Amino acid sequence: MLVSVIGTGYLGATHAACLAACGHDVVGVDSDPGRIEPLEHGRAPFHEPHLDELLDRGVRAGHLRFSTDVHDAAGAEVHFLCVGTPQRTGSRAADISAVHAAAAALAPLLTRPCLVVGKSTVPVGTARELATRLRRDAPAGEDVHVAWNPEFLREGHAVEDSLRPDRLVFGVEADEDDQVLRDVYVEMINGGVPVVRTDLATAELAKVSANVMLAARISLVNLLAEVCEAAAADIGDLTTVLGLDERIGPHFLSPGVGYGGGCLPKDTRAFVARAEELGVAGPAALLRDVDAINMRQRARTIDWTVALLDGRVQGRRIAVLGAAFKADSDDVRDSPALDVAATLQARGADVVVHDPKAAANAARAKPGLRIADGVEAACQGAEVVLVLTDWEEFRGIDPVSLLDVVARPQVLDGRLTLDPHKWRAAGWDFHALGRGAR
Ligand code: UDX
Repeated sequence: MLVSVIGTGYLGATHAACLAACGHDVVGVDSDPGRIEPLEHGRAPFHEPHLDELLDRGVRAGHLRFSTDVHDAAGAEVHFLCVGTPQRTGSRAADISAVHAAAAALAPLLTRPCLVVGKSTVPVGTARELATRLRRDAPAGEDVHVAWNPEFLREGHAVEDSLRPDRLVFGVEADEDDQVLRDVYVEMINGGVPVVRTDLATAELAKVSANVMLAARISLVNLLAEVCEAAAADIGDLTTVLGLDERIGPHFLSPGVGYGGGCLPKDTRAFVARAEELGVAGPAALLRDVDAINMRQRARTIDWTVALLDGRVQGRRIAVLGAAFKADSDDVRDSPALDVAATLQARGADVVVHDPKAAANAARAKPGLRIADGVEAACQGAEVVLVLTDWEEFRGIDPVSLLDVVARPQVLDGRLTLDPHKWRAAGWDFHALGRGAR
């Protein structure tokens, strides 16, 4: 099939590469030449394991093209909308202007029957509005159909999640649209991936609902972590117990400095905003608390650090290990690690950050922040070391050799990444969010 993918961020670039790997002819379109240039050469404009191999293979085989010109999407049988929907400035709601702009650019090119498939995360009701606009503005009129097919990929696992998703959701208005999507994903469906067919609204809600459930789970674990600290209990052991309950399961039970990234924070807020618009303000207050607990983790990390420095951070050397919002990603959007580092620096601390992959993005996002290219360089002369991203590399730090580098052996583990026994045995004053009393 000839397929277009509009928007080539984490979602669109991965989707385009995976569709090409499934045997389709794909053109990826983005108005940002900075993204298109590396993609044309088979390289991702961001760090994502295994994506470069897939892009390179697709581009070399001639199944995958990229362009800044939306006219190159004309003629595709299926158009996927993969543009970003960030938080609107000054509001909790999602900014869906890029979705409408992409549809408006596409509409005049739709001269024959086709399916426009939304993958972006949008407030429920957007798909119906989009269908009305496209049918009004496209030359093909009623022959333009709209479907919603949310994507659940995690950064750092985007390729694996796209090629072998837990489920495919097809929000459609007609049997023929369901069939088109089955043809697009035939390889995965034959491989056993389950399909759930829904209406448009349910499919739109599916993505944001999954994300608010994950966000709520993390905030609940962080609430338990704070109680553990107050009661001198251990959140690591507690989550092991909880995870062995089949009804609860072991995933998404890691406490710490909280969730960040381009999805969970803004999707939780956008869900609240949309629920309020729909008259469901009362129950949606639960998610305001989820957000507040999440932001509280950053504040608690800062307070704890200040306490370890005897209440005064001005001019004090602090090492922050981690800038990405999670391991295996170079994404620093709404990153708790970077937020904590920047806030401590703004209070006058002498902060040095190290991250294995996100250094360049961290420097761009916070130009005043000092970045070191290794753990030891970041910890040189530090009076406290904060571990705020769960990189495997940090798990393997040797606490004995790091003693020679720091000015004071104090560590605060904000991701339950370090082994407390090993660090204490090496002579460190060890602290961790959720682990025992201070
Ligand atoms: C998320 C969803 O998982 C994915 O399905 C959706 O498509 C996009 O949003 P992503 O943002 O890539 O994916 O990251 P995810 O792995 O979900 O982690 C989100 C945040 O939660 C990270 O900051 C992570 O460190 C944090 N987290 C995750 C925890 O604090 N504890 C956990 O147990 C799990």
